[in-house]
Amino acid sequence: MIATTSETTPPRIEARGVTVRFGGLVALDNVDLRVPPAAIVGLVGPNGAGKSTLFAVLSGLLKPSSGAVLMDGHNVTKASPQARARRGLARTFQHPELFPGLTVREHVVLGYRVRHARSRILTDLATAGGFRKPPVDEDARADEILAALQLTGHAHQPVAGLPLGTSRLVEIARALSVDPNVLLLDEPSSGLDAQETEELAATLTRVVADHGISLLLVEHDVELVLGLSDVVNVIDFGVKISEGTPAEVRADPAVRAAYLGTEADEERTSA
Ligand SMILES: Nc1ncnc2c1ncn2[C@@H]1O[C@H](COP(=O)(O)OP(=O)(O)O)[C@@H](O)[C@H]1O
Ligand SMILES: [Mg+2]
Repeated sequence: MIATTSETTPPRIEARGVTVRFGGLVALDNVDLRVPPAAIVGLVGPNGAGKSTLFAVLSGLLKPSSGAVLMDGHNVTKASPQARARRGLARTFQHPELFPGLTVREHVVLGYRVRHARSRILTDLATAGGFRKPPVDEDARADEILAALQLTGHAHQPVAGLPLGTSRLVEIARALSVDPNVLLLDEPSSGLDAQETEELAATLTRVVADHGISLLLVEHDVELVLGLSDVVNVIDFGVKISEGTPAEVRADPAVRAAYLGTEADEERTSA
């Protein structure tokens, strides 16, 4: 049925028994997480639970104190973020990191070149006259991605003046342009209003279905995750306290207890 129950295909990316210590603090304690092919997997938890730490371990920015990260069954625990990208991992940042002077479309073309013609990006950046006109196949590919994210109307705008919701979509478009098979999104709804969040949810659902990719959604917005995910993982104080379908997780007393404890200070700033 759903890909998440598959026993034969290894997960696109997997954390196995991951523990991270920062001095005396155990930020993650023996955490397992699996992102199967073509699945949307959610990771939620109160502020300080360890979400960003696990995201950093999966993307290769942080080595775990113990445990392993696997991609398609290969141990990548010691692999760099670049090596993981070559295996098909793409990610976005909580705060969009875009090049203000480039247009929306140029971001997508640039991302595509990183994957398909790695050395040309250096040539482009070194070209005094600015951005070189992309050849036709890149044009077609870029247009396809822009259309998928409903960014066609913004294609020729510089990213500098774009609203945050649109910048988020540009980041996702750029991540998709490298043709990933698994995409990690760190707090994609952060700073978006209710309508922008709803649009983002619809876009993510469509993109995952159209591209057949896997998505790991790390989010403070529990409702967004419950609405989108096939499987939801909940962590609290570095420990995984629940995993299941959105309905199962919603009904789990351990999850209720974790969130009831923090609801009162939901407004405090993120760790
Ligand atoms: N680089 C670091 N050095 C020390 N402590 C850290 C570091 N990064 C995160 N922490 C701590 O680890 C815990 C988990 O943080 P984090 O992964 O950012 O949680 P979340 O993303 O769920 O809000 C928190 O107590 C945080 O203060
Ligand atoms: Mg965080």
